[in-house]
Amino acid sequence: MTMMVRLLLVSLVSIGLVSPLAAQTAPRGVVVAQEARAARIGADVLARGGNAVDAAVAVGFAMAVTYPRAGNIGGGGFMLIHLAASGLTSAIDYRETAPAAATRDMFLDANGEADPKKSRDSALSIGVPGTVAGMAMALDRYGSGKFSLADLIAPAIVLARDGIPIEADVADSLPFWSERMRRWPASAKIFLNTDRLVQRDLAATLAAIARDGPDGFYKGRVAETLAAAIREAGGIMTTADLANYRAIERMPMRGIYRGHTILSMPPSSSGGVVLVEMLNILEGYDLGSLDAPARAHLLVEAMKRAYADRAVFLGDPEQVNAPLAQLTSKDYAATLRATIDPARATPGNAIRPVLAPRREGSNTTHFSVMDAAGNAVSNTYTLNFSYGLGMVAEGTGVLLNNELDDFAAKPGAPNAYGLTGGEANAPGPGKRPLSSMTPTIVLKDGKAVVVTGSPGGSRIINAVLQVIVNTLDLKMPIGDAVAAPRLHQQWIPEEVQAETAMPRDVVDGLIARGHRVMTIRPATSANSIAVAQDGAIVGAADMRTRGALAAGE
Ligand code: GLY
Repeated sequence: MTMMVRLLLVSLVSIGLVSPLAAQTAPRGVVVAQEARAARIGADVLARGGNAVDAAVAVGFAMAVTYPRAGNIGGGGFMLIHLAASGLTSAIDYRETAPAAATRDMFLDANGEADPKKSRDSALSIGVPGTVAGMAMALDRYGSGKFSLADLIAPAIVLARDGIPIEADVADSLPFWSERMRRWPASAKIFLNTDRLVQRDLAATLAAIARDGPDGFYKGRVAETLAAAIREAGGIMTTADLANYRAIERMPMRGIYRGHTILSMPPSSSGGVVLVEMLNILEGYDLGSLDAPARAHLLVEAMKRAYADRAVFLGDPEQVNAPLAQLTSKDYAATLRATIDPARATPGNAIRPVLAPRREGSNTTHFSVMDAAGNAVSNTYTLNFSYGLGMVAEGTGVLLNNELDDFAAKPGAPNAYGLTGGEANAPGPGKRPLSSMTPTIVLKDGKAVVVTGSPGGSRIINAVLQVIVNTLDLKMPIGDAVAAPRLHQQWIPEEVQAETAMPRDVVDGLIARGHRVMTIRPATSANSIAVAQDGAIVGAADMRTRGALAAGE
């Protein structure tokens, strides 16, 4: 391929006009991620006899170096683990928490209005990072025992210390975020005006974690330096907040869809609840026999109803008692299905009186791992915005998140209909802000057959939904299921987003049914794995965002 043709292909892919398949059969296991170096590091762990959890931990630390816009140790996320031998599935919640000094009104201005500058652009927005605790918990409880944390962090330390060329995603994304980063001298020094990303402070921080385990991050010099930098920048995080951080192992959210078990993330992510609610609604239709526009309409109507519930009910489960069993029950889905008109869009207000819309960050990253024994890991983690707050804490190399913007900054304020909204997701001390991250594993007869998830803020859950529907209802091979153009609707705003590659008849069919359709560039990336009928493990990298696949051999 000539350079011109390659460049043309890359740009067409990036604007969603073509989606070449990047699927590969991998008998000895596979890692599918958004960055190639990290994927290869994970695949190397598989090749050396590590299990999927070992590989995932190595990828998680490597991406903090090689994919700094979302890979992180200064943010948080969720890891779903399925072990083939025992059939056990674990959901590790390593979401960031609000510092102990957080208050319900911390993101309001002097007039009592939500102030996005505080919740997105200031050091107040930084949540206590969870990634190091989450990775360590996963390895400790479910690793093969053949690799120590230090073994798995070692490749990341080398890459941070020796540096990597600024190319691919880093080269593409940095120009958009450089102004935010320029505000922090420690960030500018590392990321700007250079063609090589050398992160020596980060290497030293990673080395402290390799030596002392999570204590190397949450206690001692690194924690003191992090807390001092954050407070210097106007934040409220203390060393006690860092020392008190805990990842939490939860029961996965579980649903049944057409004879398959759907396992996904429970709150503090909304992902699993909303996904299961949508699938329950859709199970009442023979989606495979419908034409594409009719099917798209039903998907959109299911999305609307489940996202409306998300806005009202969900929040940190340590603080909010959401009716999860009801929201994910087949009976409730049947009552929602009965309100869907197959010929006409239901207005948002007819589903629930409209609350104020809430913006969510859209830059996160997902990777899927499966080893030859069928153990599976689905991991999504984030700094919220690309490069988070843009602030590297001086002396640590750690890019910090602005995750606390995922709280509803102004809960309890009456909306146009006099309703109060967002109570369940109000900021508060120690609270986890509600996420949309949806790492998911689908089982058939107890075995993992699909591993998927995506970045994309509020679009994440719908991206996962469509990979599942494409796979289970439309019987697409995983490469096609991932590449197929996607739709998104989130109740409010009252619009359907359709990727540029969405076929015209689907867009026209939605408009004819009364939907307002906006065309968008792809904003999700569902790096996935499936097990074919003959048992072959097939990885599918999502070429919307330079997905990368590395086989374990
Ligand atoms: N920050 C995006 C999410 O957690 O859903």
